[in-house]
Amino acid sequence: MQIAISLYGFGNVGREFVRLLNRKMSYLKSRHGIEPRVISVVTRRGGIRAESGIDWPVLVSLANAGTLCEQEGFVGGAPDDLDRWLPPEDSGQVRVLVDATWSDLSTGEPGLSRLREAARRGCHLVTLNKAPLVADFDGMVQVAREAGVRLKFSGATAAGLPTIDTVRVSLAGAEVRSIEGVLNSTTNYILTAMSDNALSFEEALRRSRALGLAESDPERDVSGMDTAGKILVLANAAMGARKRLSDVKVTGISEVTSRQIAYWAVQGRTLRLIGRAVRTADDVSIEVKPTPVPYRDFLAQVTGDGKGVRFTTDIFGELTIVGGAGGPSAAAGSALKDLVNLARAVDGDQGLIP
Ligand SMILES: NC(=O)c1ccc[n+]([C@@H]2O[C@H](COP(=O)([O-])OP(=O)(O)OC[C@H]3O[C@@H](n4cnc5c(N)ncnc54)[C@H](OP(=O)(O)O)[C@@H]3O)[C@@H](O)[C@H]2O)c1
Repeated sequence: MQIAISLYGFGNVGREFVRLLNRKMSYLKSRHGIEPRVISVVTRRGGIRAESGIDWPVLVSLANAGTLCEQEGFVGGAPDDLDRWLPPEDSGQVRVLVDATWSDLSTGEPGLSRLREAARRGCHLVTLNKAPLVADFDGMVQVAREAGVRLKFSGATAAGLPTIDTVRVSLAGAEVRSIEGVLNSTTNYILTAMSDNALSFEEALRRSRALGLAESDPERDVSGMDTAGKILVLANAAMGARKRLSDVKVTGISEVTSRQIAYWAVQGRTLRLIGRAVRTADDVSIEVKPTPVPYRDFLAQVTGDGKGVRFTTDIFGELTIVGGAGGPSAAAGSALKDLVNLARAVDGDQGLIP
């Protein structure tokens, strides 16, 4: 199966995705019968494009060092000009837009309109950008359904940690009663460093920046909004919650003090930033807040830049998943996983893709 990819975003994740695809090329072909080609790479100012696929050596060397706009063949222009950037409709290939850009969490834009339009044009969607799903999950699902395309978003819901696929496949048929998780690496690193190394919040944040975990503007992480976006998407996707970001009560970690950490340690608990969605009688309540977790709890054992999630279900009881790699390489890996599963779904009952 030939897959034509339009890659939006060529930052940490987009570049890593290119390197990973290149590295996995022969494995994808021999194991799954999949042949991906990157038809276009698009950033804010424009991009590069080649109908038959951009040469892999060119793409990889660009991913390793180059600047897209200095590349021969770079075309300036709006990323929303989909006629220019998407693979042609009559190509006979499976067409996929992979979104590794940023958008506004409350409006979902500019990614939301772009993804909707790409779906209407018959492109399958793999998004690492959570904002369009946070802003309008039901709308995105509906557009994809009406257009008959797949919408995959592992990279938007904790990437290396299997969350959404676990519910869809491994917990199929079960009612998810609650989801709790440590879903943000940066804040978990900071809380662990405050607890294990007796650092202040500011010093722990400084170290997380030095390690490249925290963005230069870490506000989305420390305010709890990144966790809020993830738990919201999970609740909407796995529990049918139909909630908006404004329905999520969010408390970040910037007010957490060393004193609080020491107080809870004496009580046999450690603070974790937990995103929690709980089914009530006729609703789902969603909250994000620093939570004292007993040391024996699996989520207390999520340390450093780790992540973890716990599902409570009617059939299978409690299931906790802890671990998984983090950072851009895990994010790229989750997009690759989505691509393989998307190909399987498109393949349908033929079962040709193992
Ligand atoms: N980093 C991680 O570990 C990780 C993990 C999971 C998910 N994600 C998600 O992956 C996405 C990308 O993260 P990143 O770390 O790769 O970010 P990044 O290094 O800042 O790169 C972002 C890329 O997106 C492009 N871009 C931004 N806004 C755009 C727009 N409106 N239209 C077209 N292109 C646009 C930028 O273009 P210019 O080059 O022109 O600025 C840049 O190439 C984010 O949504 C993030 O939440 C990241």
